[in-house]
Amino acid sequence: MKIVGLCASPRAQGNTRRLLQRFMQTCETLGATTEIHSTTQYRVDFCRACEQCMRQGTCPIQDDYLTMLPKILEADALVLATPNYAFDVSAQFKAVMDRSHAFLYYSQALKGKYGVGLCVAGHWAMTRKIAAWCGQAVWLCGGNYVGYAWGVSKVRDKKGFVNEKKVYAQADRLAKKLIKEIQTKKQHPIQAWLRETFLVSKLRKSFLRRRAEYPWTAEQFEK
Ligand SMILES: Cc1cc2nc3c(=O)[nH]c(=O)nc-3n(C[C@H](O)[C@H](O)[C@H](O)COP(=O)(O)O)c2cc1C
Repeated sequence: MKIVGLCASPRAQGNTRRLLQRFMQTCETLGATTEIHSTTQYRVDFCRACEQCMRQGTCPIQDDYLTMLPKILEADALVLATPNYAFDVSAQFKAVMDRSHAFLYYSQALKGKYGVGLCVAGHWAMTRKIAAWCGQAVWLCGGNYVGYAWGVSKVRDKKGFVNEKKVYAQADRLAKKLIKEIQTKKQHPIQAWLRETFLVSKLRKSFLRRRAEYPWTAEQFEK
């Protein structure tokens, strides 16, 4: 049972990392193997919308994205963690998601995997929504959304959380839930129905119609 965490804070040892570490430690005590990757370790440039990934399944940008991708794909579960920046995910998080548009979303590459979102902020506003959205990104890419946890930094950019005990208790509960879902291979039929009905069926139709222009993506929808 391998759980991979992605920390998308530019502060490699910030509070986003601390919350992610706490979550992963709890997962380890429950028998999981964990691995944390930080966006500070990788150079991931912005998507240029050239659509080469959609046409050929390759990316022309010479950076570390394609080194990061297999680490995401080998996980049973993903823990996506971001700080709240301008009431949204960090630019680092968004850069990874944009570059994954064909490799994870159109190819529904996270099928059968589980996803959790974490968000750390200076204020509660929007923070829960961002945390949930990070986990739901896994759902978008074919996986099962398990839940989210969040915290507010005690003093902006200093170590520690407001109500730290409560924040960690919430992270621990979520870690237990995640491990149980992986162990029991819990299915989420409503999530699957929503994804198929409102997203995938429409994408499939559209790309199969445009097979000549986007052969790689069309092939993904035929698998
Ligand atoms: C560029 C920037 C934008 C931020 N925007 C918000 C925001 O919109 N809402 C908020 O609650 N906190 C905001 N913060 C505060 C961070 O979310 C907070 O300091 C958090 O602890 C950062 O995570 P870290 O400890 O991993 O660096 C912002 C911080 C920075 C540097």
